[in-house]
Amino acid sequence: MALIRIPQSWELPERLITPESTFLNRRRFLKSLIGASLGATTLPLAGCNRTSAISTQPGLDELTPYSNLSQNPQFSDVGQVTSPEFATQYNNYYEFGGSKSIWKAAQALPTENWQVEVAGLVKNPQTYDLDDIQKKFPFEERIYRFRCVEAWAMVVPWVGFPMRLLLEDVEPTSDAKFVRFSSFYDPKITTGPGFWAVNYPWPYAEGLRIEEMANDLAFFATGIYGKTLPKQNGAPLRMVIPWKYGFKGAKSIVKIEFLDKQPATFWNTLAPNEYGFEANVNPNVPHPRWSQATERIVSNAPSFTWEEQPTLLYNGYEEYVGELYT
Ligand code: MTE
Repeated sequence: MALIRIPQSWELPERLITPESTFLNRRRFLKSLIGASLGATTLPLAGCNRTSAISTQPGLDELTPYSNLSQNPQFSDVGQVTSPEFATQYNNYYEFGGSKSIWKAAQALPTENWQVEVAGLVKNPQTYDLDDIQKKFPFEERIYRFRCVEAWAMVVPWVGFPMRLLLEDVEPTSDAKFVRFSSFYDPKITTGPGFWAVNYPWPYAEGLRIEEMANDLAFFATGIYGKTLPKQNGAPLRMVIPWKYGFKGAKSIVKIEFLDKQPATFWNTLAPNEYGFEANVNPNVPHPRWSQATERIVSNAPSFTWEEQPTLLYNGYEEYVGELYT
C-alpha cells in the first residue's frame, strides 16, 4: 500500500525550509558518492513488512509523560522553544528516508526490549535495558540549542541524563581515548532512502573523544517535551551534543564502545572534507559548499517561518566547552 501523506496546514514545502541550494547540492552530492558502486550493487528487497508496522499516530499524545521531572536551571533559557509539532515532524533519520518527512516511516523502528551494550576498554562492561537506565541514572530536563550542519536551528527541551554518569558506571580504562556510538540497523527494517544507500557505511555511528563525553553538556536523551522520545527523534536513547553539529547526535543507540583510536563514523567516512570528526559549530569555518556564518531558526505557529540569525561559536556553549579545544 502506498503511503499518501496529506500535508498539515502549518507545513512549508521542504524547498522553502532548507535553503534550496543546500538541499539540492546535498542530494546531488550524496548521489555522486555512490555512482561508481551502483553497477556492482545487488539491490535489497526494500520495503518488506514496512507499511504494516507503520502507526498512523506518531504524535506526542501517545507517548508516556515523565513524572516528577526537574528542569536543570542551568540549561533553561536559550530562546523560544521550538514547537513540538515542528521538532517531531521535521527530522533527519536517513535509515527511514532521505527527506525531512520520515516521521511516519520511522514508526517501523522496533523499540521493544531495547538493549544498549557497552563494551571495549572499560572495567565494567554492561548491557543495559531501559529499566536499568531509568533506575541507575537520574533524569532531568535540559533545554538546548540544536544546530544542524545544514544551517537550520531549533531550541529543544530534552529529557535524559549527562553522559558522564554512564562513564562513572562503566569506568573506562586509562587506554580508552575515544567512544563510538552505533545506531540500530537492520536492512529489513531500516530500508532508508532506498537502493542508492545500500553501500553506505551502516550502521550510522558517531564518535567523541573521551573528554568530550565527560563534559557536563554531553547528554543521552530518552525524552523530549516531557515525554518519551518519538521514534523519529531517535527513540529510545540518542546522543545530544549541543556544541556540535546535529549529525554528531546519533539516534536509537544500541552499542557504545570505548577505544584507543579514533573510530570510523558515518558522515566522516562518506565525506571527510565535508563532515569532520570534531564538527564543532563554528561560524568562521564554512562548510565547503555553504557558509556557516548565519543560521535559520524556526519561529513557531501559526506561521512556522524561518528567521535568520548569526551562528554562535560552539553554538553558544563556549563557556562550557572552550577549554576542550585550546
Ligand atoms: N542518527 C541516525 N541514526 N541517523 C540519521 O540519519 N541524522 C543526524 C542526527 N542523528 C541521523 C542521526 C542529523 S544530520 C541530524 S541534524 C539530527 O539527527 C536530527 O535530529 P532530529 O531529527 O531529532 O532533529
